[in-house]
Amino acid sequence: MKFDQSVDIDLLPEVYNPSDDSYLLLQAIEVGEGERFLEMGSGSGLIAIHAAKAGADVVAADISPHAVECTRRNALRNGAQIEVVQSDLFENVRGNFDVIAFNPPYLAVEETSSSWIEKSWSGGEDGADVAGPFLEQASKHLTPNGRIYIILSSLGGLRTLLRAAKKQYQSALIEEKHMFFESIFAYRLEPDI
Ligand SMILES: C[S@@+](CC[C@H](N)C(=O)[O-])C[C@H]1O[C@@H](n2cnc3c(N)ncnc32)[C@H](O)[C@@H]1O
Repeated sequence: MKFDQSVDIDLLPEVYNPSDDSYLLLQAIEVGEGERFLEMGSGSGLIAIHAAKAGADVVAADISPHAVECTRRNALRNGAQIEVVQSDLFENVRGNFDVIAFNPPYLAVEETSSSWIEKSWSGGEDGADVAGPFLEQASKHLTPNGRIYIILSSLGGLRTLLRAAKKQYQSALIEEKHMFFESIFAYRLEPDI
């Protein structure tokens, strides 16, 4: 999807500010009109709003009450119809999707705190605490030709997660961005049949 300059995002405290990884994921995603689209970990709602504007039927899920509120407000602000649910991964998500997108919390950290903003970027000791279980569960929530778009980073669980992904999915690298401190990758995954 192309970044739409007219999308107007207002942040709330404790909510992830859209960054390089958000825009790389946005760029990698292809979604068609009428397709069922789930954004896991929607944060501000930037990606979910773009998908709704592209004509997809959108559900946004986030574990954080602040992100849920922020996605709802931004959807209203941008006239986008999105069903927003508070959910720990797929716990409260119903139905199957043609596209599931996730920019997970992936930074490897030694000590964790329980603040919502830290939950938005912390992937635990090896960076795979959230993305690992997501990859295990996501294939069950796809339609038969469904696909996943996910961000992986050199700063968190890249090898572990790629190994886990390759057990279950065919993977294709769609976009990458290299910065002096980090490389980020947007992958498309399709379940192995
Ligand atoms: C890196 S931020 C991405 C936010 C937004 N999608 C973007 O790209 O700007 C990760 C998001 O995942 C959410 N999150 C973390 N753990 C989660 C979980 N177990 N289930 C659902 N969402 C989760 C965080 O609250 C946060 O909003």
